[in-house]
Amino acid sequence: MVSSKESGKISRREGIRLLITAALVSIPSSAFGNTRPPKPCKKVGEVVIHKGKKFTCVKVNKKLVWDKGVPVKEALPTKSAAPAPSQSPSPNPSATSNSTASARPTATISSSPQAPVKVLFAKSQDVARESTVVINGKDQYGRPLSVAFTRSKTSLIALDASCTHAGCIVRPEGKELSCPCHYSIFDPESGKPGNPSQQGAYPLSRLEVLEESGSIYLLLN
Ligand code: FES
Repeated sequence: MVSSKESGKISRREGIRLLITAALVSIPSSAFGNTRPPKPCKKVGEVVIHKGKKFTCVKVNKKLVWDKGVPVKEALPTKSAAPAPSQSPSPNPSATSNSTASARPTATISSSPQAPVKVLFAKSQDVARESTVVINGKDQYGRPLSVAFTRSKTSLIALDASCTHAGCIVRPEGKELSCPCHYSIFDPESGKPGNPSQQGAYPLSRLEVLEESGSIYLLLN
């Protein structure tokens, strides 16, 4: 049994608590500096971040309200990895490139041989048909040059008349070219030595010859 006195005490205590609850509920959010989330919380434990604070939904006197919130440290932006410079190969300068600023001319090495020099050396009438003659003249530099010309039925052949043994000038002798110094002999068309075992001479050098308008030219390098 509860006495009416005790019943009165409980009623007063509950009344006070109800008044406090009513006061809390009636306090507008603006009274808290309007920092609480504007939306109502609907479930105990619900969390929301608002204005730098984390608010948790709690139950106060059977009513769901946001707690006072705790400051939340702002996550610092993570540094994104700087993109590595691409290693794509720079375009090589080519003949079709439009770049003119950095293009350096590259030395080109010509592999083409030096163009021969055309030297007027004799007249066509100086070399009779099917004969061999040695004519003394000058090369493209003005130096003395002796040439053995042999005109066959179909062609004109020119050989350097300097003996490949020691440089003496060969001379026609019968159907051969003969060296007066040590008696080496050479074929007037091929230049090959006829008696290589005698002096160990090499073939006479063949020269490029051109015949035009009654003149004989040598093409010398
Ligand atoms: S120089 Fe001609 S054979 Fe000796």
